[in-house]
Amino acid sequence: MELLQLAEFETAARTGVPPDVWDYLQGGSGTESTLGANVAAFKRIVVRPRVLVDISARDLGTTLLGTPLDFPVAIAPMAFQRLAHPDGEVAAAAAAREAGTLFIASTFASRTFEEIGTAAGRWWLQVYWLRQRDALRGLLQRATQAGCQALMLTVDAPRLGRRLRDIRNGFTLPPGVSAVNVGSSVMAEAHERDPGSSSLQRHASSEFDPTITWADLAWLRAQAPLPLMLKGIVTAEDTVLAIDHGIDAIVVSNHGGRQLDGAIASLDALPEVVAAAAGRIPVLVDGGVRSGTDVFKALALGAHAVLVGRPVVWGLAHAGQAGVSAVLKLLRDELSEVMALAGRPRIADIDATAVGAAPG
Ligand code: FNR
Ligand code: LAC
Repeated sequence: MELLQLAEFETAARTGVPPDVWDYLQGGSGTESTLGANVAAFKRIVVRPRVLVDISARDLGTTLLGTPLDFPVAIAPMAFQRLAHPDGEVAAAAAAREAGTLFIASTFASRTFEEIGTAAGRWWLQVYWLRQRDALRGLLQRATQAGCQALMLTVDAPRLGRRLRDIRNGFTLPPGVSAVNVGSSVMAEAHERDPGSSSLQRHASSEFDPTITWADLAWLRAQAPLPLMLKGIVTAEDTVLAIDHGIDAIVVSNHGGRQLDGAIASLDALPEVVAAAAGRIPVLVDGGVRSGTDVFKALALGAHAVLVGRPVVWGLAHAGQAGVSAVLKLLRDELSEVMALAGRPRIADIDATAVGAAPG
């Protein structure tokens, strides 16, 4: 039976995934209040449709840092996609290519950058700042050689958040799933099981560099002549600092509620960041996007594009590449439908007047 909304992919995906892996994929940190807030924030925004507009043709195309996208949705960086399906990142990257959009590979991708580069159209690399600078340098070189076109430094994770589900499960990477683009010495702890703690959390505490500040960005820039984005900004203050430091784009994100529990919902933070950016650099957003209507709302609040995380994993777990393609197609079809019924046939028509706050 055809799945008609993303929530149906969630249900379909769950059956095929071991419970501890499911908890890792789905879960958030602490009480999961930010995880819930991300989704809830979209429900507090309503669409203000305009009528008697010629909507016979819709154009969902846009451009991001000079890259044309067939529609303004890209795949968020997510670690270890082989947890969801043996094809992992290769399937997701191929689906992104098919949909005319971007794939963003995690530092902890479980397929090689070379495989991803071959499968993807355009792809970017998400960067975790490893303590071992040689390993970090190697990662950047390998990605650049495999055709990566931009870097996205994740700044909301100097260490991993306390994910209670993973701690209870003593979550450890299963055999056969590893971060294949990072040296095995860097990754060893992620594979060591210790009941009562998350191996990924322990690993990140050992291997992520928690000393990094704005002053270090120049070093990263010097390693690769690529556009550099920051992912995980939710304040005007940090937006201004990012622009002062020559950052090329920002992703408003709280890591899908997996880092600071109690942090502001992504959509709630978006207007502040958009105002501070004042059109100088593109602003992207992720967290809680579960329909084309949500994409529309994010664009109306000033996002240039959105990233989608968990729904992609659901598609992957459900049916590999075909599943991710179906998820992306559904988001595209839903966005096109909202644009038609809201009287906003082009992306540029989706301005601040297209939405309002839900009453009460
Ligand atoms: C993530 N996310 C993430 N972010 C990042 O910068 N590097 C990473 O390696 C990962 N890994 C990762 C794994 C899994 C299983 C999930 C669910 C998420 C966060 C991700 O990029 C994105 O910010 C959120 O997933 C967006 O929220 P939604 O769409 O999942 O609600
Ligand atoms: C996560 C990491 C690895 O969110 O970013 O699980």
